[in-house]
Amino acid sequence: FSILVLHGPNLNLLGQREPGIYGSLTLEAIDRQLEEAAAVLQVTVSSLQSNHEGILVDAIHDALEQYQGILINAGAYTHTSIALRDAIAAVALPTVEVHLSNIYRREPFRHHSYIAPVAIGQISGFGADSYRLGLHALVHHLKQLEL
Ligand code: DQA
Repeated sequence: FSILVLHGPNLNLLGQREPGIYGSLTLEAIDRQLEEAAAVLQVTVSSLQSNHEGILVDAIHDALEQYQGILINAGAYTHTSIALRDAIAAVALPTVEVHLSNIYRREPFRHHSYIAPVAIGQISGFGADSYRLGLHALVHHLKQLEL
């Protein structure tokens, strides 16, 4: 399987951005960990980070050609973007939503996700491990579809 990993706005600042909430790993380090996890799972991952909603929408549309699943941390767009949700619904690729922080123990405006209803499931609160757990969950789901 080939998995598209999408990182939304401000995640390029990981490592320096509110490390008490988001941890001290950089996005590069998280992507490296994901590549290692992918190798063990015998899948490939490609990552894209963007601060622009439309670029993420385009990437979801284009994913249909090359990828079997999407792992997404939409950042703040999680709580605002009907466009991202509709893009995921349109391509209908199995999608797992991840968050570094536990969005449900933070401010009320983070408690609602537009992505959740179109995702297989969500992993929130395990720091950088959320991504690895999300990748495992997505690959497990795709393998079950194959059976
Ligand atoms: C986040 C949580 C969002 O509420 C926030 O806007 C982010 C990061 C997380 O990974 O914990 O940018 O998605």
